[in-house]
Amino acid sequence: MKKIIVIGASSGIKSINKDLVTYTSSLIDNIEPLHVDISTYNTIPLFSPEHKEEFGSPKEIIELSKLFNTCDGFMISFAEHNGSFAASYKNVIDWLSVQGKNLFNHKPMFLMSTSPGPRGASTVLDSAVNYYPHMGGKICSKFSLPSFYDNFKNNEIVNPEFKAELTTELSKFESEL
Ligand SMILES: Cc1cc2nc3c(=O)[nH]c(=O)nc-3n(C[C@H](O)[C@H](O)[C@H](O)COP(=O)(O)O)c2cc1C
Repeated sequence: MKKIIVIGASSGIKSINKDLVTYTSSLIDNIEPLHVDISTYNTIPLFSPEHKEEFGSPKEIIELSKLFNTCDGFMISFAEHNGSFAASYKNVIDWLSVQGKNLFNHKPMFLMSTSPGPRGASTVLDSAVNYYPHMGGKICSKFSLPSFYDNFKNNEIVNPEFKAELTTELSKFESEL
């Protein structure tokens, strides 16, 4: 079975992006989802070259880096904080990026985002879609869900148009696995 890393890219313990990505991963048959909870990395040191030089990388990052190297794909849903990544997620990615080249190893990626607002955190999603190819990202699918609390209820997308769009994007991702 393909092992897919599933990330709600939020510093929150409770997170609408975790809800969205967990739901989406449950729609694919025959994968093993590897859920990475970014809130458990809230207390690792902020990346700095001096910290790495003096103390090395946090052991949690070394473990996560191994998981990134052995998985078969990625599903990530981004929380947007002031138009950009949640700080805790960004810190994890900065640490991972100095463990080796091509963090995402040309493995299929499904990138998504949501927020309570009408733009659905599309600014941070666009930022990842534009930049992750420079980190070895092979982006197969993208999806932004606006107005989360109107469109996602009882653990599923209730708006038929967004549900249909998600299904289309999901099949593109599955076909690349
Ligand atoms: C510091 C801060 C900045 C935020 N900035 C944005 C923003 O730029 N765009 C947006 O759509 N929502 C913004 N929000 C609202 C978040 O989208 C909302 O908190 C959402 O629940 C975050 O996703 P999460 O629940 O997965 O952490 C911000 C929230 C906080 C606390």
